Amino acid sequence: MKPTTILVTGCSGFIGSNICLSLLKQGHTVFGIDNFDPNYPRQVKEQNNFLLLSYPNFTFCEADLTDQKALEVLPEKLRPEIVVHLAAKVGVRSSLKDPEGYFHTNLYGTECLLKWMLKRGIRKLVFASSSSVYGNTTESPFVETSDLSAPLSPYAATKIACEQINLTYHRQNGLDVVNLRFFTVYGPGQRPDLAIHKFLMAMRLGEVVVLYGDGNSTRDYTHVDDIVAGIESSVSYVLSHEKVYESINLGSGRPIALSQMIHILGKESGCTPEIVYSKQQPGDMENTFASIRKAEKLLGYHPGIPFQEGIRRFVAWFDAQKS
Ligand SMILES: NC(=O)c1ccc[n+]([C@@H]2O[C@H](COP(=O)([O-])OP(=O)(O)OC[C@H]3O[C@@H](n4cnc5c(N)ncnc54)[C@H](O)[C@@H]3O)[C@@H](O)[C@H]2O)c1
Repeated sequence: MKPTTILVTGCSGFIGSNICLSLLKQGHTVFGIDNFDPNYPRQVKEQNNFLLLSYPNFTFCEADLTDQKALEVLPEKLRPEIVVHLAAKVGVRSSLKDPEGYFHTNLYGTECLLKWMLKRGIRKLVFASSSSVYGNTTESPFVETSDLSAPLSPYAATKIACEQINLTYHRQNGLDVVNLRFFTVYGPGQRPDLAIHKFLMAMRLGEVVVLYGDGNSTRDYTHVDDIVAGIESSVSYVLSHEKVYESINLGSGRPIALSQMIHILGKESGCTPEIVYSKQQPGDMENTFASIRKAEKLLGYHPGIPFQEGIRRFVAWFDAQKS
C-alpha cells in the first residue's frame, strides 16, 4: 500500500494501538482519537499511546466521538483518506449492565463520526464489527450471509446496528465500507478483561481460574497480528475500489475449546491452573467459528499464527510487562 493518511478511532486500545504501530512503521501518516474510556485503566492506554507518540508521523487527539463539538474543532487539515473506526464500548457481559451507555457510544458515536466524515469529504471506512453478531443460532462455520436476527447482548445488537448505519451511509452518501467481524482477538496488549489475559493474571498470582460453563464452549481465537494484517488489506481494498459495501469475517477458522485453551496457557506459562467451574454467563455465545473464505478471496487474508505459538508470544509479552 502506498503511504497514505489514516484516522484511527480507539487508537489507544488493544487492537487500535497494534494497528497504529504497524501503519506508522510502514510510513503512513496516522491520526488517532481516543477518549480513554474507563473500561480498563487509563494508564494502560496511555502506555500504548506513549509508544505511538514516539513516531513523528503520529498525531493524537483526546476526544469523545459522541461530542460533536469536539469533532468539529479537530484541525481543518485533518482530512484522512480513510477512517479505521475501532472506538466502542466493548465486551458482552458489561453491556448487559449498561445497555444505554453502549447504545450511546456505539450507535450515536458512529453516527457523529460518519456525519463528520461527510462534512470533511472523507468517503472510505473500515469498521470494527464482531463475531457476536451471529448469536447462538447460526450454523458453523459462520458465513457472512447468515441471518443476524438473534443477538444475545446489547453489545452484539450495537454491532449489527452499526453495520446497518454504515449501509445507510453507503446507499445515501456513497460511503465505501468494509465491516470486519473480528473473532476473539488475543496477543500482546490484549484487554485485561478478556479470558486469556484474566486467566494468566490469575495463574501468575496463584489465584483460582474461574471458568464459566463446562469447558466445552469454543472460540475462534485470532492473533492480533493476523487481525492487523486483515485490517491493512481491508484499507487497501477500500482505497482501491469504488461502490464498496462488504461485511467480512476475520477469524482463524480454527476453533479451540475453553478447556484446551487453559491447558495450552498453563503449558506455555509453566503453571498448573486451579480451575473453579461456574455457570455459563448470560450473553455469552456457546461457540464461534469463522468461515474465512470471503476474507481469503477479497483480501488475500491468510491467518498465519498457530494458537500455541500465539499464546507463547502473549505469555512473553505479559511477563515482560509485569517485570
Ligand atoms: N478484542 C476483541 O476480541 C474484539 C472482538 C470483536 C470486535 N472487537 C471490536 O474491535 C474494536 C477494538 O476493540 P479492543 O479489544 O481493542 O477494545 P479496547 O477497549 O482496547 O479499545 C477501544 C478503544 O476505544 C476507545 N473509546 C471508547 N469509547 C470512545 C469514545 N466515545 N470516543 C473515543 N474513543 C472511545 C476506548 O478508550 C478504547 O481505547 C471495538 O470496536 C470492539 O468492539 C474486538
